[in-house]
Amino acid sequence: MSQRKSKKRPEKQAAESLEAAPRGQVVGVPSEFERAGIAAEFILSRTRLRPKIALVLGSGLGAFADEFSGASRIPYAEINHFPRSTAIGHAGNLVIGNVEAIPVAGMQGRVHLYEGYSVKDVAFPIRVFARMGVKAVILTNAAGGIMREFVQGKLVVIKDHINLQGANPLSGPNDERFGVRFPDMTAAYDRRFREMAVGEGNRMGIGMYEGIYAALPGPSYETPAEIRYLRAVGADLVGMSTVPEVIAARHSGIRVLGISCVTNAAAGILDQPLNHKEVLETGERVKGQFIGLLKALIPRIAEAIA
Ligand code: HPA
Repeated sequence: MSQRKSKKRPEKQAAESLEAAPRGQVVGVPSEFERAGIAAEFILSRTRLRPKIALVLGSGLGAFADEFSGASRIPYAEINHFPRSTAIGHAGNLVIGNVEAIPVAGMQGRVHLYEGYSVKDVAFPIRVFARMGVKAVILTNAAGGIMREFVQGKLVVIKDHINLQGANPLSGPNDERFGVRFPDMTAAYDRRFREMAVGEGNRMGIGMYEGIYAALPGPSYETPAEIRYLRAVGADLVGMSTVPEVIAARHSGIRVLGISCVTNAAAGILDQPLNHKEVLETGERVKGQFIGLLKALIPRIAEAIA
């Protein structure tokens, strides 16, 4: 039986789909770009809102998304290809709703390398945001304070980072549909957003600082010797997240604001051991202030990206 004329031969179809995919892409397996597109389409089918701002709400801060008005809540488990968070204090929902009448997408928790996820999985939600048309992302996290002024409970605006995770979400074939092979990281943390965050924080009487965030893979906390090393190489804060997301965001031209909540003095700074309970408790204590700051910043960021 002869093939119908209108139908392309399978090998021609494969050749055409290969043209769009990056070199090195495995034929027949959907690319990251396609998977992110499928997830983005699904998310947007669940809401009428079209957020241009996304928030990644780290340890304890997920509760902010419960305050969004007119919200749709989507468990990560329902979103195609989305990683599921296993960490305590991370609820695992994507909430699309309004903050001060600005539509936003809020992640209640993220996934980390230490959960066993690949760095590409960790960055995947940012890929999805890129395909949803998000233009700015606010990344929050819990961090250990290396700089002496960064005491428990301080909020610190990230001005730069040091990637010590030994992994980069852009490893492998580059997909030009996301961005260039070698993205610039000179101003990864948007200068304008940083000024706004410090300004708003100070206006609210929070006393905001800026600092350099070093990302380690975890899950063990650092040793005192590692903290001395980190201080010597210029780090002010230490944590186990955020950096893969920043790299993926910058690759796609998404502007980034990063804010750390110092949940503890880094190892060896005080003469006491570190524990996760303390991290969660501090996050809980500062939550109100942190949410207040985010509420003040969202309308200003919306204006900046309009
Ligand atoms: N080190 C690494 N990650 C962290 C810390 C820390 O001291 N506190 C909260 N997250």
